[in-house]
Amino acid sequence: MTIRTATAADAATLADLARRTFYDTFAPASDAGDMALHLAKAYGVDQQTREIEDRDITTLLVENGGQAIAYAQVREGHLPDCVTAEKPIELWRFYVDRSWHGRGIAQPLMERVMLEARQRGARLLWLGVWEHNARARAFYAKCGFAVAGQHIFLFGTDPQTDLVMVTPL
Ligand SMILES: CC(C)(COP(=O)(O)OP(=O)(O)OC[C@H]1O[C@@H](n2cnc3c(N)ncnc32)[C@H](O)[C@@H]1OP(=O)(O)O)[C@@H](O)C(=O)NCCC(=O)NCCS
Repeated sequence: MTIRTATAADAATLADLARRTFYDTFAPASDAGDMALHLAKAYGVDQQTREIEDRDITTLLVENGGQAIAYAQVREGHLPDCVTAEKPIELWRFYVDRSWHGRGIAQPLMERVMLEARQRGARLLWLGVWEHNARARAFYAKCGFAVAGQHIFLFGTDPQTDLVMVTPL
């Protein structure tokens, strides 16, 4: 398993992985129309190319035997009201392919995320996680995150409640 920073050449791979992991995670509990709206807005080669090339975003890609199996994105410049600490940074996206859940991929990816966040000068890492995403909440708690508040995530047309979790860096 290797973890590296994505380049523009990875945009199609990332778009495919990001779309698939989001769908696998949320489709069972989602309205199909909202899912379609969100997938169309958030994922595509052009969109992922812009994200990879955005200097405020770091995109980390995990590969095994040449296959992309997980990714994470750290993003500057976004902050919910409940985060008031100095030098915060967002863990925007964190997804492991379903067949790799529970197999020790997420922990080293989180360690790399925290390293990247510190290298950007951040002192606090925050994220939003859907209130009903029990597995992700358990994983983040295991990594030292605690709930600091909540905010609304607009999923298609559906305003959903995300818990905001934070950890010092
Ligand atoms: C969240 C994610 C990255 C964690 O990676 P992982 O490999 O599954 O993590 P782990 O198995 O190390 O840890 C998950 C923990 O949740 C527990 N868990 C599993 N299912 C659970 C459930 N339904 N409710 C509560 N806890 C659960 C596991 O037992 C494990 O805890 P343990 O190590 O103490 O036994 C991965 O599951 C994932 O990519 N999920 C889909 C995408 C996603 O939700 N991303 C986060 C968006 S904010």
